[in-house]
Amino acid sequence: MANKKPLAEAVKAIQAAFRIVGRVKELQMLVLAHEAGKNILLEGEIGTGKTTLARAIAQHFDKNFHRVEGTEDLYSTALIGTWQPPLLIQKGYTEEAFEYGPLARAMIDGGCLFLNEINRAPESSQNLLLTALDEGVLDVPNLKRINATRGFFTIATRNPASHIGVSVLGEALKDRFVWIKLDYQTEEEERGIVKVHTGCTDDAMVSAAVRITRATRKNRDIRRGSSIRGAIDLVAMLASTGVDPWADQQLWIDVAIAALVSKIDVEEGIDKSPEEVIALIAQAVLTKDFFR
Ligand SMILES: Nc1ncnc2c1ncn2[C@@H]1O[C@H](COP(=O)(O)OP(=O)(O)OP(=O)(O)O)[C@@H](O)[C@H]1O
Ligand SMILES: [Mg+2]
Repeated sequence: MANKKPLAEAVKAIQAAFRIVGRVKELQMLVLAHEAGKNILLEGEIGTGKTTLARAIAQHFDKNFHRVEGTEDLYSTALIGTWQPPLLIQKGYTEEAFEYGPLARAMIDGGCLFLNEINRAPESSQNLLLTALDEGVLDVPNLKRINATRGFFTIATRNPASHIGVSVLGEALKDRFVWIKLDYQTEEEERGIVKVHTGCTDDAMVSAAVRITRATRKNRDIRRGSSIRGAIDLVAMLASTGVDPWADQQLWIDVAIAALVSKIDVEEGIDKSPEEVIALIAQAVLTKDFFR
């Protein structure tokens, strides 16, 4: 470790380069996990910054990182690579006729595979990853066996709520990773995120939007509250109205509904609509501290 940048410096550099607000502890864990040569799994609720942090780490350590979206049609071939039919006919089973996929390329380069939303990938692909991660080998049928170059690592994200009925394989895969959990950030940090994303300089507007958004996470009528995306959208819309939103509380409420309704799930069996729930939350926050 002697000639490595101190941890705090690395964290600051990543925050600055990727405009990340806070997350010091998590970034420290990410850097340490990478230095130790571990594969990393970032887990957190919707909009907690998984993709943002994973992308930042991938790019920080490998500017040519390979990104893959976990979807139900991400089959093994999409990770390993595919034969190009015209070239296959001309050249046969040779390297020239094969286009390597992101897993194969990351292993050959000794680089980073960034697997976003790994939990959505089919089991066959997750299985393939297991051997690639465990043994550092990947067989390309009819071509060769790839031995991972030193430096190869994977950073993956997954959303805990989206995998009800987790597969055994999902758990086996998780066992191969170092796990870093992302919780919602503090109110102050969330204000910082909204500012970075909207450029809004009206502190009261940012503050009210963050408070309304955070209140959706504590409301008894709501099963799943809004991520920071709700506050970002609320401020972005309000700031672009061209009128003074502080002269019009109803405008605030209408925009809050537009920004937040699609980002929450209400409890079953309540006697209010999602719009009403948001309107009540917005009104309570605004009347208490912002409109007089
Ligand atoms: N610490 C942070 N600093 C700056 N921006 C952030 C931070 N955390 C989240 N964001 C912003 O909030 C939004 C949501 O973040 P991101 O897409 O990374 O979340 P996610 O956990 O991947 O969400 P999902 O579960 O929907 O995939 C993005 O616009 C992102 O830039
Ligand atoms: Mg994401």
